[in-house]
Amino acid sequence: MFQSPYEAIGGEQVIAKLVDAFYERVAKHPDLSPIFPKDLTETARKQKQFLTQYLGGPPLYTAEHGHPMLRARHLPFPITPTRAKAWLACMHEAMDEIGLNGPVRDELYQRLILTAQHMINTPEDER
Ligand code: HEM
Repeated sequence: MFQSPYEAIGGEQVIAKLVDAFYERVAKHPDLSPIFPKDLTETARKQKQFLTQYLGGPPLYTAEHGHPMLRARHLPFPITPTRAKAWLACMHEAMDEIGLNGPVRDELYQRLILTAQHMINTPEDER
């Protein structure tokens, strides 16, 4: 009856395109690449699972990895306000690249701003 944001965005294929475009940028970003693994295959696979459930699709991430506990899982990495901004900029550009527009883009991006802010665990001058 009512569409989930997962359906509205275009499901698995659109999430896969978005995540691939996103990590291509992360890999090249001077503020982000130092804290990510060189090979982003597994990271991208997990992010596809996570965003699927974040948007109300099947709970793929939890089925394989348990409760996301995202802030806790990010604690090993120094996430400064600059890195949160960089992460969001890569996501914004990835959305542009794949031509994701409309209310579902805005809704997703607004939620990601809040989640990204929640991941900040390190003040700017301690990285
Ligand atoms: C994993 C950085 C925000 C979702 C990671 C990893 C890093 C990272 C370094 C580990 C990659 C690996 O070892 O495979 C950041 C930075 C952020 C940020 C700098 C800036 C705020 C977010 C946000 C989300 C998110 C907003 C949710 C939409 C994930 C997921 C994983 C992950 C699902 C995989 C966790 C796992 O290992 O199971 N992130 N992240 N991250 N991140 Fe982020």
